[in-house]
Amino acid sequence: MRLIFVGPPGAGKGTQAKVVCAKLGIPQISTGDMLRAAKVEGRLPADLVARMAAGALVPDDVVIALIDERTRAVDCQPGFLLDGFPRTVPQAEALETLLSRRGSKIDLVLALAVPRELLLERAVLRRTDKRTGQIYHLKYSPPPPGADLEHRVDDLEEVVRKRLDTYEAMTAELLPYYEARGMLRRIDGVGNVEEVTARIFAALDSTRQPTR
Ligand code: AP5
Repeated sequence: MRLIFVGPPGAGKGTQAKVVCAKLGIPQISTGDMLRAAKVEGRLPADLVARMAAGALVPDDVVIALIDERTRAVDCQPGFLLDGFPRTVPQAEALETLLSRRGSKIDLVLALAVPRELLLERAVLRRTDKRTGQIYHLKYSPPPPGADLEHRVDDLEEVVRKRLDTYEAMTAELLPYYEARGMLRRIDGVGNVEEVTARIFAALDSTRQPTR
């Protein structure tokens, strides 16, 4: 299956992507993770580092090139889950074009919906284990003792507010784009992780059922 997770910062895309990908045996492709890895390795230009730290999007052509290359890898043949891409209509159009050239397409777009105040709390109290990439939350899923924790620079409250504004201004256009194509399923992202996972699999199962 080729899936997309759309949702605002802190909606739980990364958390749910790890569960869904493990169960379906497909890779999680997160443009945010790819950009952060490039930064750590010193490969991300300074202006893009600054954009990310300020809560702005990086240019479309940068992330489109990353996705074009990554989705050609052999581990993507059984499918993949795109986490945080596309975020704009031009990115969605580019994705459609590059997949159709390979005789392929996206099966389903899952949009996680969570109210703004909860998003803020989820992002600001998020911590990630640098060694394993495991995502924790200081209130909802506390890290174990000894975890090597990282607090993302873009998870400071003021930056999260900016990222939420950016999402609302730019990414919200994506939902009508996919809705018009009959590809969109909206998922209530409020509740514990297991409850949200169950809603995602219910949506996937109903999509895979043959129509009568
Ligand atoms: P990216 O890394 O994609 O960040 P994001 O979309 O803002 O999403 P987050 O990672 O903040 O949240 P999430 O939904 O994955 O939530 P999580 O599961 O961690 O992008 C970062 C930056 O990169 C962008 O700002 C931009 O600059 C750039 N970029 C990336 N892609 C781009 C693109 N396509 N175009 C242009 N620029 C791009 O959960 C959050 C917290 O909540 C965690 O602590 C978790 O433990 C907790 N949690 C999760 N689910 C639950 C639950 N059900 N109950 C309680 N707690 C929960």
